[in-house]
Amino acid sequence: VSARPLIFLKIGGSLICDKRTPHSFRAATVRRIGEEIRTAQARQPEMRLVLAHGGGAAHLPAQRYSTREGLAGGGGWRGFALTRRCVLDVNRRVLDSLARAGLYPILLSPSASILARDGRIARWDTSVMERLLSAGQVPLIHGDAVLDARRGFTICSTEEMFSFLADRLEPLRIVLACDVEGVYPYRVFPVERGRTRARVRPAPLERIDRSNFATVMEHLRAGGRADGTGAAHDVTGGMLAKVERLFEIVSRHRSSEGRVVSGLRPGVVLRALLGCAEGTLVRWD
Ligand SMILES: Nc1ncnc2c1ncn2[C@@H]1O[C@H](COP(=O)(O)OP(=O)(O)OP(=O)(O)O)[C@@H](O)[C@H]1O
Ligand SMILES: [Mg+2]
Repeated sequence: VSARPLIFLKIGGSLICDKRTPHSFRAATVRRIGEEIRTAQARQPEMRLVLAHGGGAAHLPAQRYSTREGLAGGGGWRGFALTRRCVLDVNRRVLDSLARAGLYPILLSPSASILARDGRIARWDTSVMERLLSAGQVPLIHGDAVLDARRGFTICSTEEMFSFLADRLEPLRIVLACDVEGVYPYRVFPVERGRTRARVRPAPLERIDRSNFATVMEHLRAGGRADGTGAAHDVTGGMLAKVERLFEIVSRHRSSEGRVVSGLRPGVVLRALLGCAEGTLVRWD
């Protein structure tokens, strides 16, 4: 076990794309995030980083073919292959934009090494990833369609991968950057067309810990799939599952902390990487 602090960072699909629009991509945003990562690395050379990105617009084929349900979903192996093509399309663009920022993470394709069972990771050999980390490199993973012992195949979210990795690699911090400022204690509606008056949006929760976790989950559940930009466009459970997985990590590793932050506002990801208070903090206590 290395003494150098380990950070997991996810560049969320909601940040890199408009998840409702096929092939949409926010190249400038991803490039800026890449620059913020490089600045963080320069300021904290000891930091080790596992980088990930979400599926983004790949949720559309995943929805269309019910890829998460596997063979029972009806889309068959063709649906699996088509979902992966879209994931890899997003991946290619992320790699291109990060390269423009001078960041060259090393892709470890999750589909090639993860075996799931009923939607959760059952087996994943992490020795290549660990070797890259000790070599001072940044491994890159992403939400992906993977094989599943029960379903044939499924969709595995980045948060599920982070949860599995946390048990082996003990991260100090997990930063999940998306298109919202944090976790809101009520349902988040999509912006309504032609609306002149901005919806009053109070600040997101400052913190989720064991004292309010159950209540927060109730609020998120009440939002359900009515939410037009979250769960309704996310095959792995949107914000609800994100908070659930994050809390699962911090309840098993009580010295680690998670943050849900906005990657749309410049500087937030940089500060979150350096440990500053941004967005919603998720801790055990
Ligand atoms: N209570 C809530 N607080 C914050 N965001 C919420 C809430 N309810 C729903 N959402 C939605 O959840 C979305 C974030 O979840 P989502 O899984 O889409 O993010 P992501 O990780 O960026 O995307 P991907 O899963 O494609 O990587 C936000 O875009 C927001 O619209
Ligand atoms: Mg998601």
